Amino acid sequence: MKPYAIGVDLGGTNIKAGLVDADHHIADSLYCKTNLPRPQEEIEQKIAGLCEELCRRADLSLSEDISSVGIGTPGSVNSKTGIVEFNANFNYRNWHLAQAMEARLPCRVYIENDANAAALGEYIAGAARGARYAVAITLGTGIGGGIIIDGKIFSGFNSAGAELGHTVIERDGRPCMCGRRGCWEKYASARALTEDTRAAMRRSPENMMWQSVEGDLQRVNAKTAFDAMRAGDALGTQLVEEYIESLACGLINVINIFQPEIICIGGGVSKEGEPLLERIRAIVDREDYARDSMHRTRIVIAQLRNDAGIIGAAGLAAQYL
Ligand code: BGC
Repeated sequence: MKPYAIGVDLGGTNIKAGLVDADHHIADSLYCKTNLPRPQEEIEQKIAGLCEELCRRADLSLSEDISSVGIGTPGSVNSKTGIVEFNANFNYRNWHLAQAMEARLPCRVYIENDANAAALGEYIAGAARGARYAVAITLGTGIGGGIIIDGKIFSGFNSAGAELGHTVIERDGRPCMCGRRGCWEKYASARALTEDTRAAMRRSPENMMWQSVEGDLQRVNAKTAFDAMRAGDALGTQLVEEYIESLACGLINVINIFQPEIICIGGGVSKEGEPLLERIRAIVDREDYARDSMHRTRIVIAQLRNDAGIIGAAGLAAQYL
């Protein structure tokens, strides 16, 4: 058996690649900027370069020592055909990514949606280990959703399912790039919280958050409102409360549909940890249809943090056994 696989997390900002051993540990990792917009051939070349460099540094051979390369990326990724059908961040359609990478690398290449790969990572090596029904949510630029049933990624008949961020929580609400209005990710992603914080600050030029970002709206991030809340600021508290209501609303939709054993929450906002979870659990306890059941969904922070995508992508080959 070949001792390593390579997992690649192809995001809008960075391309991260990791050499992963049979115990799902990352032995080494590298990254480079994605630098969008750029031709897809250049991205393919960058991914191949990272894989080659990882092997060179570990004195390994891609053809002898690497069982497969897995790539996770946002959008509709058809894992069966190896085609990225639609990727809004990259503005690519029908990108034959797996085939292109197999032409560049002497090993099998599997591709998957980024959030599905992260969910698989949490299932094989993180918080969702051993759960028959698990959901992982990533709060970032968008909201990624990954569903694992009996150890397999569930993504519908055409691999395009589990787009949980594009379920609507407010009809006729905020416009989303997917064409709908009121999508969950427009209210509960890290980007949504950042944008809501900026808008609230513009309306309140005296608010303390201006000091914390030294007067520069570009420095606002998803933590800004949480920090203000901790400092006792009313606006920060209101922003966080509204954000958590939206987050919990979508989570309860997921729970009412799937009743998973566990939901792992990852991405930047998940660094808020237990205080965030406590507030979410209180709302879920109020509204989950099965709130009186003996068996309730556990809501936890994802364990693998930023590594889930790499570890899950490296584990993709086993999905096809
Ligand atoms: C995309 C998903 C992706 C998620 C996280 C969403 O906007 O539609 O495909 O998994 O963002 O990157």
